[in-house]
Amino acid sequence: MFTLAHITDPHLAPLPSPSLSELMCKRIVGYLSWHYRRKRIHQSRVLAAVVADIAAHAPEHIALTGDLANLSLAAEFVRARAWLEGVGPPARITVVPGNHDAYVEVPWEEGLAHWADYMTGDTRVAGAPQGPALPRGFPFVRQRRNVALIGLSSAVPAGWGRASGRLGTRQIEALAGTLADLRRRGFCRVVLIHHPPLPGLAEPRKALDDAEALKAVLQREGAELILHGHNHRHMRNVLESRHGPVPVIGAPSASGLARGHKSAAAWYLYRIRRQAGVWRIDASVRSWDAGAGAMVDNDRFQLTGPDMARPQDKIADVGA
Ligand SMILES: [Fe+2]
Ligand SMILES: [Fe+2]
Repeated sequence: MFTLAHITDPHLAPLPSPSLSELMCKRIVGYLSWHYRRKRIHQSRVLAAVVADIAAHAPEHIALTGDLANLSLAAEFVRARAWLEGVGPPARITVVPGNHDAYVEVPWEEGLAHWADYMTGDTRVAGAPQGPALPRGFPFVRQRRNVALIGLSSAVPAGWGRASGRLGTRQIEALAGTLADLRRRGFCRVVLIHHPPLPGLAEPRKALDDAEALKAVLQREGAELILHGHNHRHMRNVLESRHGPVPVIGAPSASGLARGHKSAAAWYLYRIRRQAGVWRIDASVRSWDAGAGAMVDNDRFQLTGPDMARPQDKIADVGA
């Protein structure tokens, strides 16, 4: 059995003080939003409780689907690197970036390069891009026993007031080849992406621009599990593919207090095993309970059988 924790959208606090020149762009909107609203939602003590709870459960691997930063300030990438190292080594954590990690155009070396070894593939797979075939090496594939983690980047700078994402044609084509090859070789394919990967799962200004093209590839090639973030709430969907149902599961922000339709911080633990030639995946959800000031059991479900069809709103929001 392979155990995989999923967290997303830590939006690390506190926000470093930006220079005036750093604010002379779209960042000014995010800066005001942080100080007037978001800093009361994203709490370091909540994130610390989530991280400690994950450590207590000792999963073999952790998937982190983006939005570590808030405004993509140079200091945020450095601080996030230090935070990541406190959570675990690059071999144990796989990261894909979110829109807040590409809030504005930032040179690779000043930004995402700080997390590069958390976003690097370790297995050569026919059909997957190698070396400089794609900018920044997405998708990448990490093999952990018979589980393949496939990292996608939907993080691109979006216009003012937008939080959209895009994979691009080359990344989607490379993903198709990668999924097909890994399926033939019998891997449990777990796809990591920041934005909800299917059309209609996010409001248009926050959505993945090429979700239709991604959906077509997923319908054709299948996948055993897709994990995402971005919407800051529990989401559970199923995509029917030629190779069976594909669970698509989104987690709330790992630092967030419940507010409106946003869920309290939570993390998911997936137990993956192969039984009688079929992948069996069980999930359990642990959430922040603000009243108790502690992490508590929230939900358990299976990604095979009738649980797959359960409506997403059956996952309760605990705490406030
Ligand atoms: Fe986020
Ligand atoms: Fe996001």
